[in-house]
Amino acid sequence: MVSIRKDFPILSRQVRGKPLVYLDNAATSQKPRAVIQALSEYYEQHNANVHRAVHTLGQEVTERYEEARQKVADFIGAPAEGIIFTRGTTEAINLVSYTWAEANISPGDEILTTPMEHHSNLLPWQRVAQARGASLKFIPMSPQGTLSLSALDTLLTERTKLVALTHMSNVLGAITPVKEIARRAHEKGALVLVDGAQSVPHIPVDVKDLDCDFLAFSGHKMLAPTGIGVLYVRPQVLETMEPFQLGGEMAREVWLDRATWNDLPIRFEAGTPNIAGAIALGVAVDYLRNLGMERVREHEIQLTGYALVRFQELPNTEVFGPWDTQQRGGIISFCHTGVHSHDLGTFLDHEGVAIRVGHHCAMPLMELLKVSATGRASFYIYNIKAEVDLLVETLQKAIRYFTPGPRRVARPTNS
Ligand SMILES: Cc1ncc(COP(=O)(O)O)c(C=O)c1O
Repeated sequence: MVSIRKDFPILSRQVRGKPLVYLDNAATSQKPRAVIQALSEYYEQHNANVHRAVHTLGQEVTERYEEARQKVADFIGAPAEGIIFTRGTTEAINLVSYTWAEANISPGDEILTTPMEHHSNLLPWQRVAQARGASLKFIPMSPQGTLSLSALDTLLTERTKLVALTHMSNVLGAITPVKEIARRAHEKGALVLVDGAQSVPHIPVDVKDLDCDFLAFSGHKMLAPTGIGVLYVRPQVLETMEPFQLGGEMAREVWLDRATWNDLPIRFEAGTPNIAGAIALGVAVDYLRNLGMERVREHEIQLTGYALVRFQELPNTEVFGPWDTQQRGGIISFCHTGVHSHDLGTFLDHEGVAIRVGHHCAMPLMELLKVSATGRASFYIYNIKAEVDLLVETLQKAIRYFTPGPRRVARPTNS
């Protein structure tokens, strides 16, 4: 979508004297001017605390903050009372692990997840399993990211209390069959938590359609600032949950020895929230809705399909994840057999191309793929084919540069 590039000021900057080619969107996205302006407008015109002031500024920000909650709710087909603002996906998942899971997971229970989870959707469940005497089980998967649904016949039991899985792998780009898994999990009475950090920014997501009980995602991966994220909880489940943190705003009545809790979802937002971030997230949601999430998805399918074809030109390079663009998002992880990903990433940076290299906070998946690190290029709405061309052509140069052989770079001569 060439025409929207002008909305993103950072895309016109240079890196090391070259135009920036930003392909690290799975880590964080760039921000359109409308989002940046919403932040400065908030601090220049409205700054006050929410839910507590009788003065005009306080009322203005409360209205805008709650409007943002409604926008986020509409974006994922949820009721506003099921939307809790958090710092991001990590905090959202930890919230569920410290509240719902502590109260509902007993010794002998089982939590089912996958080997391709981001550490944010693995470590909280390792902790719960250890603390509660429960066990953590894994749905087997192929190295391409296909989950073995037939294994669910034996893995899902009456003891399964929670299925926690990613909607889109941040390494493989693989989109998981959440709907089918949720249906089968619910048949056994288990709840379903979806890590939507990579899916909500890129594909149309509707919590009613997915039929999940929890959905976590981060604003900063979908055009909004850092430090704001969302936990959706199905209201019937939320009503049963004890508060996560205790303090201001979340209590209704407080005595010296006890307290009662405020309405949902404020009960789960103790203390002063990230007001500017929430309002700016609302603006980011407006931006995405104006584009249309179907269009966002279609654009990324086209770009990813093109990139997958061009990646085949790279010698000795393995590309991970599904080949079918219907089953993957715009994330391409790759490895060269002879050149370390960090060398490739550093070479690319010298040409202004930003990709991510490393284990992507998915170390168990690296082990499954039998690599210690991968390079990862990830796309968003403002990326274009010319950037894919530059990526592939620069990778070709990097591979030539680092491949042992006759010296190709002339030494400077001493005159
Ligand atoms: C799939 C997935 N889950 C969770 C996270 C954690 O998100 P955050 O750091 O915004 O909390 C990420 C971030 O990269 C991710 O890709």
